Amino acid sequence: MRVAMIGSGYVGLVSGACFADFGHEVCCVDKDPSKIEALEAGRMPIYEPGLEDLVRRNVAQRRLTFATDLGEAVARADAVFIAVGTPSRRGDGHADLSYVTGAAREIAHAMRGFTVVVTKSTVPVGTGDEVERIIREERPDADFAVVSNPEFLREGAAITDFKRPDRIVVGAEEERAAEVMREVYRPLYLNHSPILVTSRRTAELTKYAANAFLATKITFINEMADLCEKVGANVQDVARGIGLDNRIGPKFLHAGPGYGGSCFPKDTLALIKTAQDAECPVRIVETVAAVNDQRKRAMGRKVVAACGGAVRGKRVALLGLTFKPNTDDMRDAPSIAIAQALQDGGADVVAYDPEGMEQAKKVLDGIAYADDAYSCAEGADALVLVTEWDAFRALDLERLKRIMAAPVFVDLRNVYRPEEVREAGFSYTSVGRV
Ligand code: UDX
Repeated sequence: MRVAMIGSGYVGLVSGACFADFGHEVCCVDKDPSKIEALEAGRMPIYEPGLEDLVRRNVAQRRLTFATDLGEAVARADAVFIAVGTPSRRGDGHADLSYVTGAAREIAHAMRGFTVVVTKSTVPVGTGDEVERIIREERPDADFAVVSNPEFLREGAAITDFKRPDRIVVGAEEERAAEVMREVYRPLYLNHSPILVTSRRTAELTKYAANAFLATKITFINEMADLCEKVGANVQDVARGIGLDNRIGPKFLHAGPGYGGSCFPKDTLALIKTAQDAECPVRIVETVAAVNDQRKRAMGRKVVAACGGAVRGKRVALLGLTFKPNTDDMRDAPSIAIAQALQDGGADVVAYDPEGMEQAKKVLDGIAYADDAYSCAEGADALVLVTEWDAFRALDLERLKRIMAAPVFVDLRNVYRPEEVREAGFSYTSVGRV
């Protein structure tokens, strides 16, 4: 199969490289020449474990190429994937589809022979219809089908998730398009990943429903955590106690500082807007988004409380800044609201993150950066574990106690056992455990 991937961001690049690894001939296109130049030289624009090797290997075997212009790649392609960004539109929270519709127009003029145009970007219900309308308008003679194929991969585990998905969802309105998609994903379903073929609108909604459900699960356990703190219960035991029920399942029940990232905040908001427009509000999701937003700021207040109620003039050390480990992504990271709340309270904030400091510098003002966890903690009045990178899972507590100005440890990811930290002489605060 010949595949053109329009947009070489997170999803586009990972999907393109994985498709090439399956043996397809893939061209990843991006308008940004510096990104394409870097990729051709084997430098990755994002941090994702395993990606560099995967890209280099497939480039060397000439299955993966890059281009800034989509013309040639689209003309040759059996399937053209649109994997451009769909940010929240400023002001109203709707997904901004201008990159998607722009790509559709360009694709229309470049395609030759029967071509399946696939929306891989997360797009609101009805976008496939709109893409079809645009292509038809630009090229009334074209032979094509528009398919929705949402991507469920997680950052940090993107390659494994792509290659071993729980399911592949394909929203196709005609059988010959579904057939091309089965061919594209052949290595996966030979490997027992089910392909679910649905209508296009159903596939589009499925992606939003999945993310909203997961965001709800997290928010639910976060509220249980707050309640645990009030009534003297342990949220990890509650999570295990409910998660062993097969109908609930154990995953996505880790209480923490609230979800962040490029997907959950944006997608819940877009779903809320779609539902409002359809005059069928999704009230549970509305509440989830509001509760999660408030939670990030509340985490800043939790740190202030752990510091005895005031942080003015105190040095607070943050371990981990990215929205989760194994990524350099700072989008909607809880650390942003936490750092802000601490600075508003008059604290000096110092931070360390294994991969995220370059990105953090673009969104966080006025904080100092350290070279590792211990230099970050040096002289600090409180240490806050914000993101659970593996490097923070076995800190030398004795050493920390010696170098910190005050032994205050706030663990927003419940990485440590309260007894061990308290035995080391710290005042220890975590989430949903007393
Ligand atoms: C998510 C979805 O999992 C993926 O299917 C979708 O395609 C894109 O959005 P991602 O944003 O990469 O992926 O991260 P994920 O691992 O799902 O975590 C999202 C956020 O939820 C993080 O901030 C994480 O810290 C938080 N989280 C996750 C919790 O607080 N508790 C949990 O139990 C799980």
